[in-house]
Amino acid sequence: MNQNDKLFYGEFAPRLEEISDLMMSEIQAILDSISTDSETAPAEHIKCRIKGADSLKEKLRRRGLSETAENGLRELSDIVGARVVTHFIGDIYAVLDSICKSNKWQIKTIKDYIANAKPNGYRSLHIILTIPFGVGGIDTINTEIQMRTIAMDCWASLEHQLKYKKSIRNTALIVEELKRCADEMASTDLSMQTIRDLIQRG
Ligand code: GTP
Ligand code: MG
Repeated sequence: MNQNDKLFYGEFAPRLEEISDLMMSEIQAILDSISTDSETAPAEHIKCRIKGADSLKEKLRRRGLSETAENGLRELSDIVGARVVTHFIGDIYAVLDSICKSNKWQIKTIKDYIANAKPNGYRSLHIILTIPFGVGGIDTINTEIQMRTIAMDCWASLEHQLKYKKSIRNTALIVEELKRCADEMASTDLSMQTIRDLIQRG
């Protein structure tokens, strides 16, 4: 957290840092319980971030709420957000299964944008957790774990890059082309999973 974010989050900042560290270590433990062998490791990388003050304020403004840290903590699910980027689609469901079986997390919702891709082609599996908070009268907060393959992450990252370049008009052609890329990448993910299954079957 930079100085600006620390000021904005105030008394909440240390607990947010704690929750971020906790999520990282729990996710790492879950990944290790699946495999510690680098050849079969489910995740390519993981990361966790605390939403920057500017991005949080912008989101609250869009929702017509006043721009306070408390409103963010009460209303949003991704003040603390983790991302698990896997090699294969199957890895996502293996990790999900372990998270569901673990007694460490209280799961609020699972949004499967892989089974049901968003109309623009976005794919990922989001798990919303409820985590004890206990600072400044806030008992719990919701946090988000996003799980996606390298291909889904690649698309989301490029699409995000384009979307925030406000000068680019979202013409039907651009929307359609982005969707086509997402679908092609999803099809490649399925092929790679099939190849992996063939290799593992020996
Ligand atoms: P926000 O979209 O964040 O306001 O929350 P929501 O409650 O609508 O949840 P949703 O599941 O739609 O999105 C949560 C998060 O997923 C976002 O903050 C992004 O990180 C990611 N996400 C969702 N849709 C897209 C998308 O179309 N493109 C990209 N690049 N990321 C997306
Ligand atoms: Mg959304």
